[in-house]
Order: sequence, then C-alpha cells, then structure tokens
Amino acid sequence: MYEQVSHSLLNEILNELNPEIKKRDLRYFYTRLGANFYAIYSLFYQLYGHRNDFKAQAVRLVETLARQYIRRPDSLKKIDIDREKDYNWFLSQEWVGMALYSDGFAGNLKGLTSKVAYFQELGVNVLHIMPILKSPEGASDGGYAVSNFREINPRAGTLDDLESLSFTLRSREILLVLDVVLNHSSNEHEWAKKARAGDQQYQDYYYIFDDRKIPDLYEETMPEIFPETAPGNFTWDEAMGKWVMTVFNHYQWDLNYSNPAVFIEMLDIILFWANQGADVVRLDAVAFLWKKIGTNCQNQREAHLVLQLMKDCCQVTAPGVLFIAEAIVAPVEVIKYFGEDAVIAKECEVAYNATYMALLWDAVATKNAKLLNQGIQSLPVKLDRATWLNYLRGHDDIGLGFDDMDILQAGYDPREHRRFIIEYFTGAYGDSPAKGMKFGSNHKTGDARISGSLASLVGLEAALLRGDPDEIDMAVNLILLLHSMILSLGGIPLLYYGDEIGTTNNYGYREDESKASDNRWLHRPVMDWNKAALRNQHGTVEQRIFDGLKKMIAVRKGIPAFADYNNRELLHVENPHLFIFLRTHPKQPAHSILVAGNFDTSPQMLDMNTLGNRVYLQYHTMKDFYSGESPTIRDGKLELQAYQFLWLSIQ
Ligand code: GLC
Repeated sequence: MYEQVSHSLLNEILNELNPEIKKRDLRYFYTRLGANFYAIYSLFYQLYGHRNDFKAQAVRLVETLARQYIRRPDSLKKIDIDREKDYNWFLSQEWVGMALYSDGFAGNLKGLTSKVAYFQELGVNVLHIMPILKSPEGASDGGYAVSNFREINPRAGTLDDLESLSFTLRSREILLVLDVVLNHSSNEHEWAKKARAGDQQYQDYYYIFDDRKIPDLYEETMPEIFPETAPGNFTWDEAMGKWVMTVFNHYQWDLNYSNPAVFIEMLDIILFWANQGADVVRLDAVAFLWKKIGTNCQNQREAHLVLQLMKDCCQVTAPGVLFIAEAIVAPVEVIKYFGEDAVIAKECEVAYNATYMALLWDAVATKNAKLLNQGIQSLPVKLDRATWLNYLRGHDDIGLGFDDMDILQAGYDPREHRRFIIEYFTGAYGDSPAKGMKFGSNHKTGDARISGSLASLVGLEAALLRGDPDEIDMAVNLILLLHSMILSLGGIPLLYYGDEIGTTNNYGYREDESKASDNRWLHRPVMDWNKAALRNQHGTVEQRIFDGLKKMIAVRKGIPAFADYNNRELLHVENPHLFIFLRTHPKQPAHSILVAGNFDTSPQMLDMNTLGNRVYLQYHTMKDFYSGESPTIRDGKLELQAYQFLWLSIQ
C-alpha cells in the first residue's frame, strides 16, 4: 500500500543511512523494505510515536535490518527466495519435529551432530534444540535465564559447533529451531549488571522501581507463575536498592518493551540467530511481553504489536524464517498470536497447541473424549498460512488450560473436574497407574499443574515395575494412540526426546540442588542410549514404541490430506469414548482420511450410520493406512480395540 507519511519517512531514513550501508547493492532488501515499510512504520509509530527520538529510533531500526541483511550468508538468502516462492512450504504433512535438550540428548552440540542419523531413522526433520545460549551455572530455569544472547553456553559448545550442526542438518533437510527468550534476561546479563551499577540507560531496559508503590499496583492483578518457588512478581535487588519485575524466577528480569532500544536489541538478536542458520525461531513466553497496571499483564494488545513488528522486520531481512509463539494461554487468546484481523498469519506462523495437548490428557484420565470433542469444537478457526505445533509432552508442566464453559458443556463441574485430573495423574485417584507430580500449586487459587514423563503418566513406569505384560501392552498402545492424534490433527507434530523409546521419570534431579525445587526436571531426561539400542531388539517396549512411531511418521508423510489447510471436520458420534475427525486435502476432495481413536480400556463400536453418507457409503472398501488392514465392521458398526486408532482411507 502506498502511503504518503510512511513513504516520505522512508525516503528520509534512506538518506540518513550510514554510508557503509548506502554503497552496497541491496536489491532484495530494498524491495522487501518498500513492501513492508507501511506496516513497519505504523506499528513502530503506535508503539513509540510519542517519543521525541522516534525518528532516530526508526533510522536505527532500518540500519539494524540492513546490517543483518548484509551479514546474512548467501546460502540462506537463496533459501529465503525459494521459500518466498513456495510460501506454503511449512504447511506440508512432511514435517515432523522433536524437541530436546542438547546436553540431555547427547552431552553437547558436537554429540548431537553425531546423532543426526537417529532423527532420520525415526523420520524427524524439524529439530528444536532447547536453550543453548550462555546462562549462569546453577539455577538458570533450564537455560531460559540467558546471560548473553549472542554466545553459546560453553557447556553446550561453541558457535563453530552450532555452525557445523546447522550445516549437517541442512544437508539432510532437517530444519533447525532455536529459542530466543524475549521476555527476560538473567540477572547476570551485562545489561542487568550495568543497571545494578546504577546506569540509567540500562535500568530503562527493565521494570525497576525505588519503592513498592508501583509494584503493589501491578501485584493487585498479576497472577503468579511459579507460586511455590518464586512468589510475587518483583524482587528486591540489594546492590541497586530497588525493586525489579521478575515474573518468572527471581533471577529472570523482565525486559521493558516500552523502550524501543529493547525492541531493537531483541530484534537484532533474532536476526543474529536467523543468520546462524535457524530456520525457525521459538519465541519464548510471548504472552508476557507487555505489562500494564490493572491487567494480568498477559496477552496485551501491545504484545501483539511487538510481535507483528518483529515479523514484518524479519520479513525484510530473513523472510524464510518462521516464528513459533510459545503462548500457553486460553484458546481464544492463543489464536491471536497468528495475528488478528488478518487472513494469513502476520505475527507468528506457528503456535503451540496447548489446548489440544491438555484435552488429550483429559481423555487419558477420563477414558472418554467428551471434553476433547467439546474443546476442539470450540477451538477458534485459525488463519490461513498458520499452523499448530501439536505435542503431548515437552520440557514444561501440563497446565489444565481448557475452558470452564467447555468443561460444563462436557457435563462436569470445572473445579471438581480439574481436581480429579490432578489426582489422576499424581496417582492419588483410585487405581490410576500414573506417576506424575503436582507442579506450581497455588494455595490461594487452588490451581495446580502436572509434571511427569509421557511414559510415567500413561502408566508404563508402574506396569514395568509390576512386570505385568497386559498393563505394559496397554501403556504402549496408549502411547501410540496419543501420538497418532498429534500426527493427524493438522499441524506439525512435535515429539519430545525419550518418548520414542518410552523413557520414564528421571528422579535424579532431586540430588541436584539447583534443580531439586523444580519438579519439571522429572521429565527432562538424560537419554539412555543403552535403552535406545533396545529399539533394535524385537518385542521390547522400546522397539514397539519406536517402530510404531517410525511407521506412523512415514505413513503421515505420504498422506497429503494431513497437510494443514484448515481441512479438518470434527464428526459427532454417540459413543463418548471415541474421537473422530475427517481430513480432506482441498485439492483432492475425493480422497479423505477418517481418523478414529478409542480412549477407553475396552473395545468400542462406532456406528457408521452416524457419520453421514459420504463415509457410510464407503465403509466396505475402507483400509487403515497404518496397519494396511481393513477394519472389522459388523452390522454397520466398526470395532475399535482398547486404545486403538485408525487412519482410514475414503476414496
Ligand atoms: C517458557 C519456557 C519455560 C520457562 C519460561 C520462562 O514458558 O518454556 O520453561 O520456565 O518460559 O522462561
């Protein structure tokens, strides 16, 4: 769009650019800047237009984009152009991810490079390596307290190690996902140190107050994230003699995005990692980016403006790079991280589907899909060119973030139901085989979340301890059922390291003082490669899970209807234990896949009559893509065994 004010500002900025930049041939850069500048200007103006130094900051912003463009390696510039042409590339069903800690998985980045064949064996081609940036020894929130945003943690390796890993991954067509922790820095970051020493420029990077007056106002409406270990949202800094906002742990200082210098620094850091070869950047804790007294300081409109501006800027310098929004918030809020009032994603192209994750765990505990059906039905439709990350477990806890209205609709009392789920997964309910732990209990609100590995939460740990082959079978089947659900819903499935071989809880964290108070370490394993080797031994738990997933991944990749074009239709069925949906590729409407999952521990029947003509008329010729077999159908009723799933072809 041509717009006078922004255009004349752009001309002025281009005139004032550093001569070093001006003399370069930046053809693609200027084309993209011209195309995006109206949006960049409008957003930058909305956020910082009231400041006297607005224009100077705008010049700095454009210079930052240009400098990083100049540094961007040619090989990555070529990928940018390819992805611009094939702009739906990331919606393909061919992407399958895994998240891991490099130290837990393979010691460090070098070790990880030597294990790349493992991902290919399984079929994983998107690799999220959790924080590898410099962070303090001891407690660092699993690396999410960063003390230098441009240096690799020596424990993980060096920039050269990352470069060679990124090269190896690219040569095998595996995408690299890196974290940028936008919301806060460690209190040992240079900026925090300068702020502590009294430097006003850096005190303005954070939310710092002389007394409790303003902190108390914030506290009136701000919830607590880690109520047990880090109550409150402010920390007294003795050296500075001031209060600092610390929403997460006391050593994580919240960055202040109302200061454009912070915005430009962090954008520069995103582009820095994009230039190191990150195909995708995971933007941590984005819901928290903007704080406003009188609100819960989450999901604020300005947080969205910040993210949109980051996306538009990235579009100029590194347009091939995707953003993942890590916003573990209510369904109506999470959807906004793709961008509001838009047709295609204009904020983050990818977002964690925490709603689906929590709903699947609900189905495990209740052995039915009542809330799962209700919750997915209420999940707002997302934009085009936007996709979910569908996951079961990750390095964080499980929050029961479903909507109270949905719980009521499913026929439960919200408070009671949440309590039941917590009790189920902590093994306190009836004969529940789950071995999770309560995380983040808040005595004021009664809320709690859950820690524990996938295998331990589904009962595999208990079954192995008892040595009961039937229970082991059930747990293995449940692990496969759950994965079949994240591999087929629509979006990029994200596996979690160790789950592919049934890794159970890691109780060792209790011996480490810097971890003992945070039971999320229960499910942050050190990979046991002897156990992984058992995947090659027929009949072991490891082999059954690994091979099951390997096959599922290979089958998914061959089914175009599993690509994510908002092409999913939830089918209502009478039997509450079943979760059923239809996937149809927009370009191949004649070929659909009927996905069916039974969350009960006994066989269940699906009445084909209730599925509508299109499915009903086909049921004689249906075939399960996963097993290659025709399903058992009697009197128009399809039988699903306990924890069975089917991916049925409909021609
Ligand atoms: C994100 C991370 C989590 C961390 C928090 C604060 O939610 O996933 O592990 O504790 O941000 O950085």
